[in-house]
Amino acid sequence: MKKGFIFDLDGVIVDTAKYHYLAWKKLANELGFEFTKEQNELFKGVSRKRCLEILLEIGKIEATKEQFGTWMVEKNVDYLKYIENMDASEILPDVPRVLQFLKDREIPIALGSASKNAQPILEKVGLLAYFDTIVDGNNVTKAKPNPEVFLLAAKQIGVNATDCVVFEDAVAGVEAANAANMITIGIGDSEVLSEAKYNFRDFTEINTSFIQDLINRN
Ligand code: BG6
Ligand code: MG
Repeated sequence: MKKGFIFDLDGVIVDTAKYHYLAWKKLANELGFEFTKEQNELFKGVSRKRCLEILLEIGKIEATKEQFGTWMVEKNVDYLKYIENMDASEILPDVPRVLQFLKDREIPIALGSASKNAQPILEKVGLLAYFDTIVDGNNVTKAKPNPEVFLLAAKQIGVNATDCVVFEDAVAGVEAANAANMITIGIGDSEVLSEAKYNFRDFTEINTSFIQDLINRN
């Protein structure tokens, strides 16, 4: 059966978690509380709206609907300043090698991200052309760990869910891909991503025979 490969963006293709963190931290500090790197782990793979809800829980702040909307915008304006000057140097190691390997074999490639900023980031780092489709926070109503983002990506590349391989760095993302019955590859800490079928620290650990085996398997 035809295989498809779906990539998460933040933390898999580019290390944008640090920029999300700085923007959330600035907002937290303005609201009068601290926001640590450990707490930021909870934000990985999680939608912007849900992140703000968690942030306000951490700061024990009750927001009006209007304040909530204002802070969502403020965080994103700050985040956009950080990503404005991104270029190919911010692509995580060996990601282009794996994308090129798939492209050379005409394997469909999709993006499955919670971010609403996915397309401009891929453009800035020069990887947009590798993707046959982009499904991101603008196209789905249910955030990860709901499988909607990955199921839609599979549909758009015309591959059965069970024949899709997903690269994810977030617990919520691994849960979403598992719920979609896809083959999950955790990128990062194998203890944190223990629900993934395969685990690698980063793409430098993924050799081409491993990818070829995934393509060949029934
Ligand atoms: C995910 C990130 O990819 O996108 C989350 O891991 C982030 O941390 C989410 O909150 C939404 O991103 P954006 O760019 O739409 O605010
Ligand atoms: Mg991610």
